[in-house]
Amino acid sequence: MTLDRRNWFEGWRLLAILTLVLIALSVWIAGMRGFEVDGIRMVIRFTARSSLLFFCLAFAASALALLWPTSGTRWLRRNRRYLGLTFAASHAIHAVAIVCFAVMAPADYAAATTPASYIFGGIGYAFIIAMAATSFDRSAAAIGPRAWRILHTTGIYYLWFQFMVSFGMRIPQMPNYVWFLMPLIVVMALRIAAAVLKRRQARISVPAN
Ligand code: HEM
Repeated sequence: MTLDRRNWFEGWRLLAILTLVLIALSVWIAGMRGFEVDGIRMVIRFTARSSLLFFCLAFAASALALLWPTSGTRWLRRNRRYLGLTFAASHAIHAVAIVCFAVMAPADYAAATTPASYIFGGIGYAFIIAMAATSFDRSAAAIGPRAWRILHTTGIYYLWFQFMVSFGMRIPQMPNYVWFLMPLIVVMALRIAAAVLKRRQARISVPAN
């Protein structure tokens, strides 16, 4: 077994630095438009995209480490909890910007949302909050491994689906949005390939009678 040396950019420090960078970039983006509604809408779009990045890293971390075990992919797997929490932080900024948008320009906000965005987006936020709250050793132990696995597995696949729909529904107006679906398809393919490999390895390690 290869033991990787831990570097300083790991764990809670990784989460804190990435969250501060996301906050600073969001303030900078909103500031470029004088903190007017255009700038706030840019922050909503920016955080949807930064969330996509951290979601994909956390979603694919274990699969990558299994398929290509290198120090980089092992770093990713070791830090997937913190990358998942960075995704939650990014989506918290998305929520703050959504509230600012609704308060500053209620008519534009109403035009940009539908009852479906509240229902599906609301379920998405419920999963994000529940998953973030149970990403600590104590809270994870409190709900038990079975409930934890059900919550995190259902939640992560639901969020994958939510990203597909949220980016996908914009493709008719903006065909370039198809590019946002590519990382989602790639990370799903990686997880399927890793599951197949795991099953094969398990079959090989069971001695035949
Ligand atoms: C009640 C919950 C939510 C509401 C009200 C909401 C609202 C919005 C609004 C108004 C926009 C468009 C901003 C604009 O065009 O200026 C937007 C964009 C987006 N949201 Fe959310 N959202 C919610 C939850 C979520 C969740 C849970 C996800 C993903 C897991 C998500 C992903 C996205 C994406 C991908 C975009 C497109 C960004 C782009 O154009 O690049 N949203 N959201």
